[in-house]
Amino acid sequence: MKKHILLILTGGIAAYKCLEFIRRARDQDYHITCVTTAAAEKFITPLSLTAISGEPVYNDLFDRQAEADIGHIALARRADLIVVAPATADFLAKMAHGFADSLASAILLATEKPVLIAPAMNPSMWHHPATQDNLALLEKRGIYRIGPGMGAMAEAETGMGRMAEPLEILEAVNDLLTAQRAKDVLSFTHSLSEPLSSLDPPARAPIDAQQDVGEKTSLQGYRALVTSGPTREPIDPVRYLSNHSSGKQGHAIAAALAQRGAETLLVTGPVSLPDPPDVTVQKVETAEEMLAACQDALPRDIVVCAAAVADWRVAATHMQKLKKQESGTPPSLVLSENPDILKTISQMTEDRPSLVVGFAAETENVLQHAIAKRLRKGCDWLVANDVSPATGTFGGDRNEIHLLDGATIHSWPRMQKTDIADRLAEEIAQYFRAVSCLE
Ligand code: C5P
Repeated sequence: MKKHILLILTGGIAAYKCLEFIRRARDQDYHITCVTTAAAEKFITPLSLTAISGEPVYNDLFDRQAEADIGHIALARRADLIVVAPATADFLAKMAHGFADSLASAILLATEKPVLIAPAMNPSMWHHPATQDNLALLEKRGIYRIGPGMGAMAEAETGMGRMAEPLEILEAVNDLLTAQRAKDVLSFTHSLSEPLSSLDPPARAPIDAQQDVGEKTSLQGYRALVTSGPTREPIDPVRYLSNHSSGKQGHAIAAALAQRGAETLLVTGPVSLPDPPDVTVQKVETAEEMLAACQDALPRDIVVCAAAVADWRVAATHMQKLKKQESGTPPSLVLSENPDILKTISQMTEDRPSLVVGFAAETENVLQHAIAKRLRKGCDWLVANDVSPATGTFGGDRNEIHLLDGATIHSWPRMQKTDIADRLAEEIAQYFRAVSCLE
């Protein structure tokens, strides 16, 4: 059955790009209904939207005819997904604060369907704390976001705020609807009280066939970079903040890529594992050192970020060991946020690696969070796993993952971390082989 997308256009110059989005989405058999705000119609006419979507355009909350025909609640309900593109700063503020003063905002207040926003605005408006606070509120409520990116703006400025391209928005739509389907399947399976591992993974025949005969696809000539292990953020010369990551998965991935002939650099935090064979290993301690080592190693064709990078570091590391106070008052630590290595590499505008793979360890709603994370970070593929204590994944040898490649979610059965690494490296090798066939 055709999936139904409700496209809400708000008042930005990028609205013109939505014609292309509609056309491409219809090519993929989506049904598109457009809703415009008054400001959107200053940039694009309902006539062109109707012509391209083949559907009436809705814009008036108090239009008696439209309310009699369909009504804003029904518009909100019949959609499988709502896309807001372009999403202006003003409209995001309205969404964040629950306004219902136009048909578009009333629909968003009435819907329980997934909502994807594609912000577009001037860089100063994007960076303004008001906009960032509104985005944080929306993110907390589970709204998905694609973009914006860096680029030239209509006002002859360059900066962050350019709306994602139509095909990128469509890719995010595909991702979200696939996740929705997967979630439905998972909850259906749960309701039958069957273990999740009984779900057949949607295996890719050619790769599985190759694995059966023990062949590995070559990555000769490609250069890979893998991050692994935890990072250690010093408090003083003898104490640090860190986490329990063992580095097993990242090290196994580096080994599997090198086995296929990729020139592989492993940038690793402190782990108690041997260096993988045929891999150049660079040992680092902190997130900042890890980022610097990765940046020094670029450009690369493949980057896999499997490290469990500490989210925060101590803002001012003490040069001498902190002493206990006579008064018994413990010291307070001020933390600052670490750089996000995966996001930094994924969002590079020059010499970006052809394939950037991230990891997402989640303890609930694994797929929903993973989809959002892939979009937020901007990586190409994302490997998501459930690390809730019951799964025994953390520190264990086995793992159960979902690979999100932008088009599909592949759920693999529980297997050894080394087998996951091998299969992931095989997927990567197959991807590059397919790309080289197209060139
Ligand atoms: O945001 P979160 O930590 O859940 O994201 C996980 C993914 O991001 C992993 O691929 C991890 O290696 C990467 N990451 C990173 N730098 C950070 C935080 C996470 O590269 N500071």
